[in-house]
Amino acid sequence: MATRRTFLADTAVALGALAMVPGGLLAAGRADPLTRAIPATGERLPIIGLGSSATFAQAAAGGDFDALRTVLQRLAESGGRVFDTAPGYGAAEAVAGGLVRELGIANRLFWATKLNVAPRGGRADPEAARRQLDASFERVGKSPIDLVQVHNMGDLDTQLPILREARQDGRIRHIGATTTFATQYESLEQAMRERSLDFIGTNYAIDDREAEKTFLPLAAERGIAVLAYAPFGRTRLWSRVAGHALPDWAAEFGAQTWGQFFLKFVASHPAVTAITPATRRLANLEDNLAAGFGPLPDADLRRRMIALIDALPQ
Ligand SMILES: NC(=O)c1ccc[n+]([C@@H]2O[C@H](COP(=O)([O-])OP(=O)(O)OC[C@H]3O[C@@H](n4cnc5c(N)ncnc54)[C@H](OP(=O)(O)O)[C@@H]3O)[C@@H](O)[C@H]2O)c1
Repeated sequence: MATRRTFLADTAVALGALAMVPGGLLAAGRADPLTRAIPATGERLPIIGLGSSATFAQAAAGGDFDALRTVLQRLAESGGRVFDTAPGYGAAEAVAGGLVRELGIANRLFWATKLNVAPRGGRADPEAARRQLDASFERVGKSPIDLVQVHNMGDLDTQLPILREARQDGRIRHIGATTTFATQYESLEQAMRERSLDFIGTNYAIDDREAEKTFLPLAAERGIAVLAYAPFGRTRLWSRVAGHALPDWAAEFGAQTWGQFFLKFVASHPAVTAITPATRRLANLEDNLAAGFGPLPDADLRRRMIALIDALPQ
């Protein structure tokens, strides 16, 4: 298991080796994306991935498959890997699974899905949970699935052993638990301390830094990978910066857009393994992927970034 020290050293080496990469080089594929290691296995993941709730799920529900096909194809072509979905995201998992099979890119992606069946009398029905997991395998068309996490801290006592068993059988490569609800933070912290998790998924953004207090240091200490969710707070950060120009000093860490500013902030925390911004638009995917190249802000710049955003109206 990685210690906090090795984890930070690993990140420092990775960051130190990278120089600023203009968009042209990115498009030409002549630069390597920033990657982070999964502490449990050492496998490296590009730091920018793709989420699939929000607008992606809306597009899936609305039948806008061309847009999603384009986005998934570009993710794979660019070497991006982490794709985060869930049976709970409406049609997103089924539509993405179908498109990924059609494109033949299932094995290029690091497919992260979730498990959570509605509890009855406080407990999840284990047979229903197994059926939901089997349905994910059918939708994804990939075995093993790279990561399955218990969604929103749903009955870990029942569902984590099912995932552990599937990992032991070689059907799943990593397991974990997620939440973005403050009411569940204490139980996620407890699970990180008491259970064997390869990953957690939680919200972390420049104006939503609660994760820095416990989850991120604890993940580094216990060798747990972190998927950073909602790096834009969905629409929250876009509303806050609307009408405001990006400061000139964002160029010091290679951010050319607000999206890259927000993502590079999240990426600069060494305990973050990958970030999964959701989009259904190619231009926004390209923008987000560009944040995964070049320098990241240091501690002084991070403080300056926070002060700038904190000063904007909520
Ligand atoms: N408990 C959980 O397991 C949990 C909870 C929350 C989130 N998540 C995961 O994390 C992912 C990300 O979180 P999120 O979907 O809540 O929100 P988010 O990624 O913070 O924000 C998505 C929004 O930002 C827009 N956007 C994306 N890139 C942009 C860019 N470069 N410029 C301008 N706008 C941009 C998207 O619209 P466009 O489509 O127009 O680009 C969409 O409206 C989810 O999709 C999900 O996979 C998991």
